[in-house]
Amino acid sequence: MKISKSQLFRKKDISTIISEAGENNGELKKNLTATNLVTLGIGAIVGTGIFVITGTAAANFAGPALTISFIISALGCVMAGLCYAELSSMMPVAGSVYSYSHITLGEFWAWFIGWILILEYLFSCSSVAVGWSGYMVSLLKEFGLILPPSLSKATLEHTAEGWALTGSIINFPAVFIVAIVSALLLGGIKQSAKINGVIVVIKVSVILLFIGFGLSYIDTSNWTPYIPENTGEYGHYGISGIFRGAAIVFYAFLGFDALSTAAQETKNPQKDMPKGILISLAICTILYILVTAVLTGIVNYKLLDVNAPIALAIDSTNGKLSWLRPFIKLGAVAGLSSVILVMMLGQSRIYYSISKDGLLPKFFSNISDKRGIPHNATIFASVVTGIIAGLFPLHVLSELVSIGTLIAFTIVCISVLILRKTEPTINRPFKTPFVPFIPILGAIICILQMVSLPSATWKRLIVWIILGIIVYLGYGIKHSKTRIK
Ligand code: ALA
Repeated sequence: MKISKSQLFRKKDISTIISEAGENNGELKKNLTATNLVTLGIGAIVGTGIFVITGTAAANFAGPALTISFIISALGCVMAGLCYAELSSMMPVAGSVYSYSHITLGEFWAWFIGWILILEYLFSCSSVAVGWSGYMVSLLKEFGLILPPSLSKATLEHTAEGWALTGSIINFPAVFIVAIVSALLLGGIKQSAKINGVIVVIKVSVILLFIGFGLSYIDTSNWTPYIPENTGEYGHYGISGIFRGAAIVFYAFLGFDALSTAAQETKNPQKDMPKGILISLAICTILYILVTAVLTGIVNYKLLDVNAPIALAIDSTNGKLSWLRPFIKLGAVAGLSSVILVMMLGQSRIYYSISKDGLLPKFFSNISDKRGIPHNATIFASVVTGIIAGLFPLHVLSELVSIGTLIAFTIVCISVLILRKTEPTINRPFKTPFVPFIPILGAIICILQMVSLPSATWKRLIVWIILGIIVYLGYGIKHSKTRIK
């Protein structure tokens, strides 16, 4: 087959995208308000990052100065968040970065980024489902219920010798939570947003309880030295440790980007999308800094390299806060389920958008008449997520999530710059301030974090990209609906 350059780089017209977003007949239903967006944002952001990763990052890299790491990581996310806010209010479509790059970079790059977003959302949903399983098993233990390892561990493990069977049948709780979340999503976005709202209230209350009650158990000597001396190895405490810590806790902020995939289902996206992204990001940053300060104040950072650091902090109060233990576990279980919910929503909307352009079969963009959601895409997303979550261990799944997100963030920052030049007159209800500095700085921070990721992650990414190119050349390029400009 002969492929011409103009075919590969055919661009979508911005006015087509904007009018697609406004259409409502037989399309996605517009049900979400600004409050829904803020809670969906918090629902997607607060999860494994704060309940698990904070402890390991303080113990191994930054010490009590992990609070500074959180500020640095938040700054990088805010820059990308400001760019997301401009693009998602200007083009409120379900495809998020996939759609933005269809205009700025053309079809091939749009497919590329869409494929990367599938990677991000698919692997984050499944990795958080595996994390959920761990917390659920330990919550059940609190009530005397023991789930055997053959039903609560991954079927496969990857070690230096390669892949091996663990003897476990399947990680049943991980598959179970994916099934429950899919059922909620199939009930429509309004219902999903309502349930997410309840979950967010539970998890934020639990975090506030920990901060409020934990404050009086802080021993300020645990904060000295605030920045432990570097051991001589890059990233092991000291200033470099703060930066390494920032790259690690970046994972804790992921999720606000998934919000932009709900733009087409938002009542007033021009005003509410920027609010949703920026307010949820601000609330989470404050919560994270306070939790880290209390955590490293109660327990010496050297002891925090555990799976459930918040539970450890509670145990270190001489039993005085033991009553909080089940609540923390409940908060984590609830918290992780809403992360899965919003990421799964994002995943299905990406399939939907790509399929609308003809790059994936039409099956994925069918909308259910009653609920106004892409039901086939939702069912497909759940089946694939459930299989992956049931079979694979956490570390294999989580590695690829950050790299996918960083690529997406970089493209968003660059797209703001390109569109300010190519489409200067389009109405921008929200404008990223200090252009070009914020997008350039945002892109640089993301690229720096990407290059510091391990080479094994890059190799897996390359395999995923090759697979994507095969699918594009085998299907997408022939079925594309985008006319050559
Ligand atoms: N930010 C999400 C979490 O921490 C991915 O679980």
